[in-house]
Parts: sequence; C-alpha cells; structure tokens
Amino acid sequence: MRFHVFTLFPAMFAGPLGDGIIARAIRNGLIEVGLYDIREFAHDRHSTVDDYPYSGGPGMVMKPEPLFEAVETVRGRENVSEAAPVVLLTPQGRPFTQRVAEEFAGYGELSLVCGRYEGFDERIRQRLATDEISIGDYVLAGGELAAMVVIEAVSRLAPGVVGSPDSVANDSFSTGLLQHPLYTRPARFRDMEVPAALLSGDHGAVARWQRRESLRRTLERRPDLLERLEPDELSDDDLRFLDELSRGA
Ligand code: 6GU
Repeated sequence: MRFHVFTLFPAMFAGPLGDGIIARAIRNGLIEVGLYDIREFAHDRHSTVDDYPYSGGPGMVMKPEPLFEAVETVRGRENVSEAAPVVLLTPQGRPFTQRVAEEFAGYGELSLVCGRYEGFDERIRQRLATDEISIGDYVLAGGELAAMVVIEAVSRLAPGVVGSPDSVANDSFSTGLLQHPLYTRPARFRDMEVPAALLSGDHGAVARWQRRESLRRTLERRPDLLERLEPDELSDDDLRFLDELSRGA
C-alpha cells in the first residue's frame, strides 16, 4: 500500500509513522509513505500557500496553484495510477468509517491532502480531489491528524501488516458489530471470574458466547449499527437473542 501525503507540516508525521505496526510495515516494505511539503511547490519569494478570501471575512484560504502543482508533479513522477483517489481531509467531508478504509485499501495507493487555515479554494475540490473525508464531527486545526488516522486504518488492512488476518476480520466494525469482551489469565482476579463458556474448551460454546456478547454490546452501546446491518448478516439465532435482550431477559 502506497500513500502520498501533501502537507504544510511533514514533521508532524514522524511520531505516528516511526513506531508500532506502521513503522514495522514500512521497514518490511509492506507500506510506503511519501511526505511532500506543499510550500516547496510555491514559487514566489515568500513561498505563499494561502491568501485572503474574496468574500472577505476571517481566516485565510489555501491557494490552488501550489497544491495542483504538488499533486500533479508527485503523482506523475511516482507513476501513481490515475484511478487512485486524491482525498482532501476536511470537516466537510464524507464520514470516515471501516467501509471507507476497506474501499481505500482496495486501490493500493492513496493521495492525502491536508488542509490548514479556513479551508481550500473551491477549485481544489472541483478539479483536484476525487474524495473529501472527515474523521468526525469536531474541528481540528488541520488535516494532518486525520490523514494519520486514515493511514493507520487503511494500513492495517494491507496484507501482512497485522500479524493475523483473523484479528482484522474480527475487529469491531469489520463484522458490523462491536467486538465481544476479551479475557486473559488469571481465571479469577480479585472477585471477578472469566465467564465459564470461555474456560469450557468447547469451540462451539466459545463462538456462541462471543457472538452473543458482540450483539449485547452493540445493542447497549451502538444500536445504530444494528439498524445498518443487511438482513443476511443476522441469523435466526441472533434475532432471537436480540429479541430476548430487548425484552429485558
Ligand atoms: Cl479531516 N480536518 C479538520 N481540520 N478537522 C476535522 C477533520 C478533518 N475531521 C474532523 N475534523
């Protein structure tokens, strides 16, 4: 998986990319992250990347010329497929979800454009970007942290980045449900015991317990996720269990 990141603050990425599973994946050649300083593509004496809005009002707007040149130059030089998305990180974007992460992983490469100031000149949205993504309903000072969130979520889906493919498949959201509770040794800690089903050694009983606790947790914490499941994603057994739960059983 290849990422090309356009930002005014490339140094912000050193921490998240320098440690943990992302750093290991980069060392192993499973992912590549190119960082490009937008300012280097501004050609006036002061390397200007922003300007006043025509509308007046507060704040500055990111100019189109440096960004178009940065993205077009890098994508040409690095032979990035024309089909690979150019994603603007902006609070006005489409909400980022596990489905979107899966969609991006499918392209094998992704260009991420981080905004600062009040926003982007509209022509960047019209002609340069193919996608606009927000990571939630709150305002950040810029798109950099959001780009790092996208890089981490998409990288985990690239083959070999996470040790066990099962662990990716069972994540919260991958199944459309929240993950079930997890326990490790000891079987009894203070007065708290590991549920008997998990100690039974019966794989069927363990799987049934996990499925039911996923359903319980999702109903309690994120009932909106249950509404969004396709009809074939819930078995008769699931439906019976949810029915019991909602009747307070
Ligand atoms: Cl992608 N950018 C900014 N600046 N703020 C955000 C965001 C992105 N997503 C949520 N808030």
